[in-house]
Amino acid sequence: MNFSELAARSYVPYSGLKQVCIVRGRSGTIYGGVRIENLSYPLSISRFQSALFNCLAAGDSPEAIILPDNPSHNELHEYWTKEYGCEIETDPGTEFTLYNPLISGLNNEADILKKLRELCDSAVTPNSDFQVSALLETSEGLIPGVNVECSSWELGLCAERVAISRAFSSGCTDFGDMYVSAPKSEYVSPCGGCRQVLFEHLPNSRIILDQNDNRRMSVKTTQLLPYHFGGEVLRKSNS
Ligand code: THU
Repeated sequence: MNFSELAARSYVPYSGLKQVCIVRGRSGTIYGGVRIENLSYPLSISRFQSALFNCLAAGDSPEAIILPDNPSHNELHEYWTKEYGCEIETDPGTEFTLYNPLISGLNNEADILKKLRELCDSAVTPNSDFQVSALLETSEGLIPGVNVECSSWELGLCAERVAISRAFSSGCTDFGDMYVSAPKSEYVSPCGGCRQVLFEHLPNSRIILDQNDNRRMSVKTTQLLPYHFGGEVLRKSNS
């Protein structure tokens, strides 16, 4: 694939800025990253977060970030290259095959929950040592996410948002329900920021919360966020 095909996977209805990049992991695998905006702008995921956390959540480490254009200062590229000791390369013509995080073949809830708990081992939690995992149903299979923390607390992402970001960069947009687990907590429930993001992408889904006493709670996204922030006036396009 190439950068213009990857750009079609970005979600930028508020700016139209189809920013994308790829990360080459030390294993040689290529991870895609796309800009994913939110109606509440500060909840938007940058192309750097999207690609780097796709790589880190797979247990790989970033070696190079490859962009089709030059990064601008507001993308904090110097922070990201320093954080992971990786290089930036600009090569609009590059062709690549992307890593695919999809998990297929899990059909019953017991198997999904087992996988969900195992996934926590991939969380990147140097600050909190608190692991969270998420599995997002799509028409093609389950997309996994774990929380990824970095030296700047504000720039890490929750497991739910890593799953959504990976789904977009993998070209999956047909979302179903989401499973979430946080085995170190007596109680798991998505944070307020994630609720707003879930509301935007999974308005008709259920969120299945894996409480660690083996109870499961299933709630509708709309139940999680009554009086959500709305406002179609901000939307400029369907992209
Ligand atoms: N976290 C999640 O992954 N999901 C949530 O809904 C709440 C919090 C993560 C973020 C951070 O890595 C750690 O838990 C502590 O806040």
